[in-house]
Amino acid sequence: MDKFTERMIDHAQNPRNLGLIEEPDGAGRAESSCGDWVLMMLTLDDRQRIADCRFQAVGCGSAVASASVITELAKGRTVAEAAELTAEDVVTHLGGLPEQKMHCSQMSHTAFIAAVESAQQRLSSRY
Ligand code: FES
Repeated sequence: MDKFTERMIDHAQNPRNLGLIEEPDGAGRAESSCGDWVLMMLTLDDRQRIADCRFQAVGCGSAVASASVITELAKGRTVAEAAELTAEDVVTHLGGLPEQKMHCSQMSHTAFIAAVESAQQRLSSRY
């Protein structure tokens, strides 16, 4: 695939859940070799499901679109379910990405998984 899908362009131009969470239950950051970065934050409800997920990014449209779609996929999942979300799932929900942009999507996924692991650590330290 060498073109961007309409869905990818929509998420890049109208990112969902852009912003900070003041007191997140989990947060993770990832950087790409290009110098761009993504910060993902999430909160959990009392059933340990992701109630909110937001991001900030300095990156290309593929990184922003990937982070945006991740925030939508994350909500309502348990941390265990969220940990199973793969980088391939993200690309699938964007309808595909050009091969040379896969690492941008991977960066957003890596930041999300770091946020999920941080939430898991926080949960396990409570018991
Ligand atoms: Fe740097 Fe895509 S994140 S080029």
